[in-house]
Amino acid sequence: CGIVGYIGHRDAYPIIMKGLQRLEYRGYDSAGIALYDGSQINLVKTKGKVEDLRHKANGISQNGSIGIGHTRWATHGVPNDVNSHPHYSNSGDLVIIHNGIIENYESIKKELTKRGYTFTSDTDTEVLVNLIEEVKKTEDVKLGQAVQIALNQVVGAYAIAVFDRKKPDEIVVAKLGSPLAIGIGENEFFIASDASPFIEFTNNAVYLEDEEMAIVRLGKEIKLRKIKNDAVAYPRILELQMNLEEIEKGGYDHFMLKEIYEQPRAIKDTYRGRLLADQGIIRMAGIDQNLEKFMNANRIIIVACGTSWHAGLVAEYIFEDLARIPVEVEYASEFRYRNPVITEKDVLIAISQSGETADTLAAIKLAKEKGAFVFGVCNVVGSSIARESDAGAYTHAGPEIGVASTKAFTTQITVLTLLALKLAKEKGTFSETKFHEFLTELETIPNKVEKALEANPLIEIIADVYKDSPNCLYLGRGYNFPVALEGALKLKEISYIHAEGYPAAEMKHGPIALIDEHMPVFVIATKKGHYEKVVSNIQEIKSRKGKIIAIVTEGDEQVKELADHVIEVPETLESLSPLLTTIPLQLLSYHIAVMRGCNVDQPRNLAKSVTVE
Ligand code: G6P
Repeated sequence: CGIVGYIGHRDAYPIIMKGLQRLEYRGYDSAGIALYDGSQINLVKTKGKVEDLRHKANGISQNGSIGIGHTRWATHGVPNDVNSHPHYSNSGDLVIIHNGIIENYESIKKELTKRGYTFTSDTDTEVLVNLIEEVKKTEDVKLGQAVQIALNQVVGAYAIAVFDRKKPDEIVVAKLGSPLAIGIGENEFFIASDASPFIEFTNNAVYLEDEEMAIVRLGKEIKLRKIKNDAVAYPRILELQMNLEEIEKGGYDHFMLKEIYEQPRAIKDTYRGRLLADQGIIRMAGIDQNLEKFMNANRIIIVACGTSWHAGLVAEYIFEDLARIPVEVEYASEFRYRNPVITEKDVLIAISQSGETADTLAAIKLAKEKGAFVFGVCNVVGSSIARESDAGAYTHAGPEIGVASTKAFTTQITVLTLLALKLAKEKGTFSETKFHEFLTELETIPNKVEKALEANPLIEIIADVYKDSPNCLYLGRGYNFPVALEGALKLKEISYIHAEGYPAAEMKHGPIALIDEHMPVFVIATKKGHYEKVVSNIQEIKSRKGKIIAIVTEGDEQVKELADHVIEVPETLESLSPLLTTIPLQLLSYHIAVMRGCNVDQPRNLAKSVTVE
């Protein structure tokens, strides 16, 4: 979920609405807003998107310089008007927004019900706001203290913002597990799940740490304190680097398309300053300072979710191939719950675009408890995973807004390739000449991605042919097996077509049964990397009348003979080929989704940042 709040001298309504729109990547099942207009709270909420909320909000007063808003990704209770946030307390004085889950809400609800409280929604959030009200009343304390006492009784994760109609000069916020940023202006404060809602108003922000709360009051400095004890925390004011242009669509129809096209630049930004080809070195502070950990590692464990997990699979091939270090790649959610064997000689690499994925964060904590060294690969600077890791490397892809991940994936692969190359050099598993060849080739990748993007018009034509297929199969081998998985995931996510990725050779152990003249099969068949074997697989598909769409190396003739369509990508080293073969598959999913009338940037049921487990 995304939360936004404002207190100051401006109209809160436009700030909150725009902020919600920017945070819609965090969830968009429902949305709501509450404003205090000088005498009462006006609250409106609805199932649906922020745009639906805007329509509904025409019916209420939009006045006031204090307010909170929410865009939801449902956890407790179906997405409907009643379950949307903000939620009132029973007296109607307090109003709250919440991102996260209160795990023990059932028992608190029972207790409150006994004391006469009633509930209109199924949410854990309504329980929390009434708990705060009950504490405030029975203990006769101010709102800040009531929030603190209440939070000490709850188990779960939260980022909350709450204010009191009777004392409308302050907002109380608190964080555990879910992110919360506070923008600090001149006699005004902005609250949000990330800095994007307030970036045009201020560059100064405080990111709350876990178990911290803050009170922002008109005419006063921000006050921070620990939730567990009364210790006062010092507000660490950061200067933000983000600019507005980066989070707007810049002429493209969708963020996803913009982000696909940003990849040449994003990849370059990721290796800039790190890859020094002329000097033959790779400079990465996070590794240079911890080289021993990597050199002495028995193995590397990679944990991640979704697309980041696919980047981890590509990395497994690179690390083992180049640096000869054993690697295991795990879904963070499986790893953390299966009592894994972890020792102090293990290095855990956590990959996460957002740096907020709850399962990945929990996997890190588990590995750290067992003494492993944790290296984070994140895109969002200052995110929870970045902070929790012992060391790390940012991907520098810039904000990724489209829910389906694109540039985050290719930049993750870029960072992991640099890391593998560096270790290979240190370990001496790679000759100096090969190392050089690699570095020089890596520097050509942005231009080659640019060339791969030129296939866009052809890809649009192919998309039109297959847009109505109910199923698709994606095949690849070696380095391009994870690309097949990622291709299938992209299609599923945004076009709702069922798709599966498989190692090409595994096809004959099952999926081949599905192949008939209606089944499109996307095959990655680049020249380097088991080409002949893939060609045999293509023949197997063809003899069963499957439709073949092949991603091939420029100038390929053999596959062209067999396939129904070919899409060319420039030639490169096998281990760098995922950076190119991914591109046409991203574009293909994009066009199919657009043609099917799907909401590309905000596919149903998904969220960009999954801060629940
Ligand atoms: C969600 C997103 C995916 C993403 C995954 C992991 O499911 O919809 O696109 O790959 O989370 O996110 P992370 O931020 O940890 O990379």
